[in-house]
Amino acid sequence: MRGASWQQGGRNIVITDIRDLQVLAKRRLPRTVYTYFENGGYEEETLRRNRADLEAFALMPRILNDVTNRTLAADLAGFEARMPVALAPVGACGLAYPNGEVEAAKAARDFGVPFCLSTLSISSIEDVAKGTQAPFWFQLYLMKDKGVGEALVQRAKDADVSTLVISMDLHVRSQRHGEQKRGLGAPPHIGFSNIWDGLSHPGWLLSMIHSRRRTFGNLVGLVKDAKSVPHLTEWLEGQFDPTLGVKDIEWARLVWPGKILVKGVLHPQDAKDCIAHGADGIIVSNHGGRQVDGAISTISVLPEIVDAVNGRGQVLVDSGIRSGVDVLKMMARGADGCLVGRAYVYGLSAMGGPGVKKALDMLYDELDQNMALSGATDIRKLPPDLLVNHVEFLLQSGGGQGGGASLR
Ligand code: GLV
Repeated sequence: MRGASWQQGGRNIVITDIRDLQVLAKRRLPRTVYTYFENGGYEEETLRRNRADLEAFALMPRILNDVTNRTLAADLAGFEARMPVALAPVGACGLAYPNGEVEAAKAARDFGVPFCLSTLSISSIEDVAKGTQAPFWFQLYLMKDKGVGEALVQRAKDADVSTLVISMDLHVRSQRHGEQKRGLGAPPHIGFSNIWDGLSHPGWLLSMIHSRRRTFGNLVGLVKDAKSVPHLTEWLEGQFDPTLGVKDIEWARLVWPGKILVKGVLHPQDAKDCIAHGADGIIVSNHGGRQVDGAISTISVLPEIVDAVNGRGQVLVDSGIRSGVDVLKMMARGADGCLVGRAYVYGLSAMGGPGVKKALDMLYDELDQNMALSGATDIRKLPPDLLVNHVEFLLQSGGGQGGGASLR
């Protein structure tokens, strides 16, 4: 499958990496939808920093090791995954592709990695359970209306969800300029330019006929008198809960018998507190640069958080990961596993389930080859000196006089 080519609009693209899927996604999706997935909070400083800091770390390969027998397998919250990657919760994937959440969940199941469904998905918890017949993860936004959280947790239990991922980084919603400019406020303002945007992407528009749902599948029915998207988004805007804190983790621990991961952690003390109050693990995340603007990148803060957790829970990480090398770097910084959002949404947007499979295949191959080329054989046992901060390395090596910082 590596190097497969894809025809779109009479053009031929040889797909070799996630960026190719991004190009295809950008062509197929209306600008409004693409902007929703792509943009970040405010000036997008965090969004850029995630990438810049990942690139600031460099691998220092070992060349004298036999790397014949290699394994990428990893335990992710009790899931025996083929590689240390899970599909992150992403809102409104059903806009990327008809029944997009079910498509992505099936691709993840067939590949052998966990899929996490967002509260703000188009397909519902029940749609995914029925479509995959396999356990999956569910990401919960706790709202002011506690009845909604209770009902979602009950539905997740009934659907055999294995892991509850509680997002704790959305006390209020950050502004994303791109969304505002394209009418994606609360409620959304659908003007002539959005209609033209849709009409000028007929491939996407026609495919949407096959969508089984036209609104947030998990919320419709739970929210009184809010049947349409404008009503639901308006309701939602007033529902983000500024009081979110350890009391909510404690509540989840009481009502949820399975694994709990708390998502959105960026500070070592928060990591400790999440575990102390009942989480089985945490996800180091700045929401893919979509919430706090100016926030620290996840790769830079990772080792401090790993030290703070000190083996008492799993430390997963997301934000900025676009390649197998990025996964390798996160693992070398001490993560137990990674989540990818945009990296798989590009594939989903470009060609549905096969696009998600393509993204996973490419991540796998890149991770496997670069791990081998670095002289490592087990993704869970990477040597601590595999990664250096390139900038500090240059400074400390004093322009070629030996030394060099070996930073975890
Ligand atoms: C929701 O979680 C979003 O990032 O849009």
